[in-house]
Formats: sequence, C-alpha cells, structure tokens
Amino acid sequence: MKLIRLRIENDAMDIAYHPVSGQEATVHYLIAYNPDQSIGENLENIKVRLAGLKFDAAILENGLSYPFSDTIVGVNYDRIDVGLALTNLLNIPVVSQAAVEQLGLAAAVKAKSAYLKWHLDYYGQYHGVRNNGQEAMLTIGNGYFGLRGAFLESHADKDNYPGTYVAGVFDQETTTINDHQVTNEDLVNLPNAQFITFGIDHQTPFRLNEHDLQDVYRSLDLKTGILTTTKLIQLASGHQLKIRSQKVANMQDWHRYSIRYQVTPLNFAGSLQIYSEIDGSVVNSNVSRYNVFDQHHLQTMGIETAANTVFLSGQTKSSHINYTIGAQLTSPDVPAIKNFHSTQQSQGVQQTVSLAVEAGKTYTFDKDVVITTSNVADDAQLTQVQAELDQSSFDKTASASKDYWDATWRTTDIKVRGDITSQRLLRVNIYHSFVSAAAIESGQLDASVGARGLHGEAYRGHVFWDEMFILPFYTLHRPELAKQLLYYRYRRLPAARKNAQAEGYRGAMFPWQSASKGDEQSQFTHLNPITKTWDPDNSRLQRHVSLDIAYNVWFYYHVTQDRDFLNHYGMELLLSIAAFWISKATYNEETGRYDISGVMGPDEFHENYPNSTKPGLKNNAYTNIMVAWLFDIITKFKAQMPQSAFQQAAEAASFDTATSQKLTDISHHLALEINRRGVIAQFEGYFNLPKLDFQAYHQKYGDIARMDRILKAEDKTPDAYQVAKQADALMAFYNFDVPTVQGLIEQMGYQLPKEYLTHNIQYYLARTTHGSTLSRIVYAVLNQLDDNDDDAWKLFSEALASDYYDIQGGTTAEGIHLGVMCATLNLTTRNFGGVSPLGEHLQVNPQLPDHWQTLKFKHLFRGIHYVFVIDHQRVTVTADQPSTIIIGKQSYQLQAKKPLSVTYAS
Ligand code: BGC
Repeated sequence: MKLIRLRIENDAMDIAYHPVSGQEATVHYLIAYNPDQSIGENLENIKVRLAGLKFDAAILENGLSYPFSDTIVGVNYDRIDVGLALTNLLNIPVVSQAAVEQLGLAAAVKAKSAYLKWHLDYYGQYHGVRNNGQEAMLTIGNGYFGLRGAFLESHADKDNYPGTYVAGVFDQETTTINDHQVTNEDLVNLPNAQFITFGIDHQTPFRLNEHDLQDVYRSLDLKTGILTTTKLIQLASGHQLKIRSQKVANMQDWHRYSIRYQVTPLNFAGSLQIYSEIDGSVVNSNVSRYNVFDQHHLQTMGIETAANTVFLSGQTKSSHINYTIGAQLTSPDVPAIKNFHSTQQSQGVQQTVSLAVEAGKTYTFDKDVVITTSNVADDAQLTQVQAELDQSSFDKTASASKDYWDATWRTTDIKVRGDITSQRLLRVNIYHSFVSAAAIESGQLDASVGARGLHGEAYRGHVFWDEMFILPFYTLHRPELAKQLLYYRYRRLPAARKNAQAEGYRGAMFPWQSASKGDEQSQFTHLNPITKTWDPDNSRLQRHVSLDIAYNVWFYYHVTQDRDFLNHYGMELLLSIAAFWISKATYNEETGRYDISGVMGPDEFHENYPNSTKPGLKNNAYTNIMVAWLFDIITKFKAQMPQSAFQQAAEAASFDTATSQKLTDISHHLALEINRRGVIAQFEGYFNLPKLDFQAYHQKYGDIARMDRILKAEDKTPDAYQVAKQADALMAFYNFDVPTVQGLIEQMGYQLPKEYLTHNIQYYLARTTHGSTLSRIVYAVLNQLDDNDDDAWKLFSEALASDYYDIQGGTTAEGIHLGVMCATLNLTTRNFGGVSPLGEHLQVNPQLPDHWQTLKFKHLFRGIHYVFVIDHQRVTVTADQPSTIIIGKQSYQLQAKKPLSVTYAS
C-alpha cells in the first residue's frame, strides 16, 4: 500500500510519503502553517506538494480521541476533522494511528473506506447558508414527508431552519406589493414537531449557541437512513454533557418518524429537564427573498394532551388541508408516564419531564411523531394519529427504515471501485431520490417530485421539467414509482387543457411550474428591485415542459412495455400534448415550413427578441426537434397498439382524423436554422445576436454563472446576446442517441456536415455560463459524445458534488437539486457504464473514467432484471430471464442467470 503519514501541529504539517507501507519515506515535507489561512486552506497545500505521487491511504498520527471520529486534530484553538477534509481533497481514506495499532493497517483502511462510502458526515458548527445547506443534505424523509436535518434544539433563525414538508400540501396566499396583487402557491412548512432540548436544574432550556457547543458531529447513515448527531456541550455554569440524538423516518408506515435523544451528564449530578415541542407558529421563511410575500399558511385549530402524548391539529389557510400531528414521549429512565407534563401554548404544545441524573450515566428519551394530512385518503383524525402512535417506537421505525433501505440498495445501488468520493456522492443522490419520492409508489399520494425535493422551499416545492432528469432513474429501477409520478400529470390533463384553451390553443398545455392543481404557478411579472417596476416574467413560455412529460411517458413505456398504461393513460397524454403543438405550429407560405413562435427554450436567459414587445422566441431548436420526435413516436405507437385503444385515447384527447393527418407533414417540415458548419441556432435569429466578452466579464465579476443578473444590473438584457444559462439547442442529444436526433433533423430536410456535433458543442460551450445545475450534466454527456473525456469528467464531477459543495453559493440551503442528482445516476450507468436503454435491446458501450476500476449496477428492462459488472476490459452481464443484449456492435443471447463476460475494446 502506498501511504502518506501526517502530523498536524500548531505551527507546521509534517508529511511523509511511503511508496511501500512499512518502508522508509522517500519524500518528506515540513510545511509551515500559514496563520492567515484556515486549517482547511492549509491542508490544500498538502495536495499541491504531493502532486504527481500516487497513494492509497493516509495515516494521521496525532488524531484526538473523540466518540464520533478519530481523525480530528486541534490546531491553535481550532479543530478540524482532517480525515473528512483530506478525503474530500485527495479522495483517499484517512485512518488514525490508533486504529492502525488496533486493527492493523489493511483492516483499518478497509473499515474506513467502507464507512466513508455509506456516510455523509459533517464536523463542526456552521452558520447561515452553510449550515442551512447541510440541513438540506441531511434531510430524512420518505416521499410523504421531508424533515430537514436541522439541530433538534433549533427554531428557525439566521442559522437554523427545521422545515417539515408533506408531499402535495400546498397553500396559496396573496400579497399586495406596490399596488400589485401577487399570489403564490407554497409547499407548506408544517408545524415543527422535531424540537427537543434539555435544561439543567430548571435553568433556561438549552439553545444552540457557539459558546456552549464545544463540538458537534453529524452523520447520516445511508444504509439505514438514520441521522446521528453527537454534541459535546459545556454550559456557562460549567456543566458538561454529551447529547447524542438520532432521527429516522419510517419508510413503510410513512406518517411516522422517531427521535432518540440521549443525554449523558459528564461532570455533574443534579436535575435534568427535557423539553419537547410541537411548534405550530412556523411560517415559510427558508428563502429570504420570498419574505416580502405573505408566508403564513397555518392555522392551529386544536391542541390536546393525554398522558405522555400531545396532539396539534390545524388547517392550511386557503387550501383548507387539515393536519394532525401527534408526538409521544417515552423513556426507560422515566417509568411513570404521569411524570410527563404538557403545557398548551397559543400556537403549540410543549411536554416536559424532570429527573434526577448522575454523572457518567446516559438517559434516553424517545419521541415518536405521527403526521397526517387530509390530502391523503385518511383524514387527519386524532384517533388515527393515536392508533399510529400506539404502534410506534424508535426501534420499529429504525427497523422499517433499515428494511426499506436494504431492499432499495439491493436493486438500485451503483457500486464504484476506485473512487470513494464518487461512490459516496452517488449513494447520497440515490438516497435523496427516495427521500423525495418513496411513498408516492404506494399510489395513495397525488404528488410528484419537486425540483428541490422535500428538502426546502426554493421554487415553492413546484414541479418543473426537471422530472425529465429524474424519472428515468426510477423507471429503470422502480417502474411503479415512475408510473405514479406520470399519473400526477395525467390527473392534471383537464387543467392542462384549460391552460391551452385560455391561450387559444387546443390540446394540453402543461404549466412550466405545477403544484397542487396543475394550473400555471409561474409568475407573470416580477418586481425589479432596482427600478421598482413590474417587468414581465416570460419563463412560463418554456412550453417544452409538455414535451419533457411526453419524453417520460415514452421512456416509461419503452422500458417497461406496460401496455395497460399506454392504452389507458400514456397515449391520451401524448395525443393531448401533440394536439397542443399542432395548434401552435403555423404554416409559413414563404418557407414552406412550419414555425412555432412565442416559446422559450430551456435557456432561461432568452425570453424574447431584443427590442421586441412580443414575448417569446421563434423556432426554438430543442422545442421543434422534440415536437418532430413526439409526432413520429405517436405514429409508431399507433401502429403497435390495438386500434380500439388508440381510438379511445384519441377521443379522450379530441384528436380527430384531420388532426392526425397533420402529424407527419408537420414533423417533416418544422423549421430550424442551421449554419454552414452545421451549428443549430438556439432559435431563429440567434446568429444575429452579438457575442459577449466572457473573459472581460470574468475579470470584472469573477463568477458569471448568473450573467442575466449581471447584465440586468448593467441595464442590459441577456436577450440581446449569445449567452446561455444552460444547454438548450443541444438538449435533444442528452435525451436521445445521436442517430435519433440526426435522423429527426435530416427528416426535416436539413443536411448536417460531418463534424457538426463537435462544432455545436464547442460553439455552445463557449456561450454557456452553467447558471443552472442542470447544465453541467448535459454538457458532460455532450462532451463524452464528442470523445472529450477530460471535460466530460470535470463537468460530471462538478455536477455530482453540486449540492455537497453547494456550488451556487447558497442555493442548497433552500433545497437539494433533485434533477441534477438523478441525472448523475443516469449518466453513470448510461454513459460511463455505457448501458443504453434507448434501443429495443440494452446496448453496452462502456466508457469508464480512467480511475474507476469497476462499476456495478442493475437495470430492470422490459421485465428482465440485469446485473452489470464493468471494468476497463470486460463487461459481465447476468439476466434473470433469457434475453438479447448488444455489447459493442455484437448481439448476444443471454441465458437465464448465466453470466456472460465479453471483452470489449476500451
Ligand atoms: C433552471 C430550470 C429548472 C429550474 C428548477 C432553473 O434555474 O433554469 O431549467 O427547471 O431551475 O430546477
């Protein structure tokens, strides 16, 4: 094993490089400590000094002994978990000398690697958006509710935000601003029932603060779904305590979660109080820029207390959704439940218990919580909550969670050897994909996946086209869940038809932002904070959202061959969407082509033409290519399905024969603008816009991701420049394989020169600022298509860590970015693993990153379970039924349960 040994002292870092463990060091550095830099920044110097050397692990010689981590060091009154920091920097496990002495080097390294691959850990206390971002990342939940990973002892303030959200619980409030009535529909922050804290000798209950909190370590176990927080506290009174709390969502009985709160007095005996609360006074205040709007959504209607149990019932203000939350406090150390006292407050209810404690002993308190809401079949009745509480215990919740995750990891895990960081973050992303959606699989919830999960309040919990980046992962692993998410859209077809009608179109026009009812939730105007004028907000013109829904319908059917779904739901969705586009396309006598106007592509920087009063753009390439694809797919599916089923779907969608006859004509004659080098204009007229001097803006502003804001602040408009927030013209190459997109374009009568893809990628990359987390992942795919593996890897790894590092500097605080999280999973299997589900059989063309030794994952394709193990030479695939698979260019017949190993040329 190649090793680094290190000691971190107050004035210097001592580093030795041992190319063979147990033998002399060949490189030795004593790096003086720079007092003007943080310890973390100083550690970066290690990376620089060790450049070019290869090592498998590091041994930290002077780690302190803590109950939660053995790789923490103290430097000049500051502390850092060198293990966590160096693993992030160098992508290797860091073990302590103590662990090596105890277990032996190989076993210590193995144990640490295994731990790191299954845990998301944070050491230390952070403030503001950094802490809020960690809360989002440490969210537990089950798709019914999401519970931010805030400290249990916190109320919402500038550092902490303990949000609770239930899928589908939205509420609308109207606020008058500058004589304008603005209505917003929010995913409601429900009463905070996770609150629990302690007090000593009946003094003020403990509130989080820097002085008392000596140390804190938070660890989310992805294998079990349990979030453990360990705090070492020293109160001003001198009392020292260890508080260990655990929080877990019940993944099966999804109304429930449980908290275990363990208090160990370290240096005193005396009286300990536990204060537990359901706080009904909370508002939606996670996103500070929304605070100008009315963010009050709750009305507490009733509070009841019974023995060790308290209940809070209420209703959302305008959507009138009832909620009842019950919490039950138990403790093996407090035998008589009458010792728990409950006090009603105006908007909440508190429970307290007091007991005599001794130093060194641990006292355990379990808080079981049940949340019910009337948007689900059951009606938020007290009796139901009581019955569920009777069934609840911390251990039951923990074991239901573990069972769910065991089963989930068995089918959905992606295993990477050779890259601890990617392994961990891929699992973090898989974890959050189910925290955001698991319960929806039950069919009892009318909800879909919001762009920011159930993890925060940005975008008000709304559902966007981001579904297109999310659903394919579920489709390939949990098709029932994907189907339920498609039903969310199907149930909103009437609303989408109304939206279309209101704008003079036929068919179904799905809203850009969808919430409870399926009406448009994007704002039509927004207040410009500088000029104080109400400027138009055209983002709803991203009508491509309906095509992205169509993509998900197609992908689901393509992968599952669920005929019942296609016959009874899918085709009606596709035809209703197609009818809208047919009514939107206009024939242009001059060009002999069809135009689609008044739309925006995914690039939100372009809302309309500069100097034009007409909203939207003409012939957005992504939209037109997707329309052509949709029309072709409908024709193809029509030929495959029973005509009676098609007729029924057509009738439901008011898709008559005359409309049907237009499909081929329009799909073959939609307009695109393509230049000599084969570059596809993002929209008609794009090539006439001036370029921006990116370098100059970089120099002036540093981060130019949100160039739209920069330009607007300079009194300019991004509409006037060739600058894009994210992938747009080339999006179709993310959705489909190259021959499919090329075929669609050629079918429209355009010729593409040989190197057109390279030209397009280079052209648009030079004009894209990646202002959305959805941009990098698309360009990672595009770069890989263009054999530009270094850039593909760079963009992928940035995308993979977008929320972990909160690369947009504060947006993770307001919720994870579920789209990019799931897209990294798709990219890993489809592009690096090279297993494409886009054809009639799975096709395998691996392109593993150089440092990934093996990649292992499963797919469920057309009812057959496949297991793939891929390294740099071989693909090994096993299927549970006989099937055909294409590896490289060759087709193979698989026998049931017999692994097939094929050497491929990498
Ligand atoms: C992106 C959109 C995305 C939305 C929600 C925006 O920043 O530009 O493409 O749908 O965020 O995630």
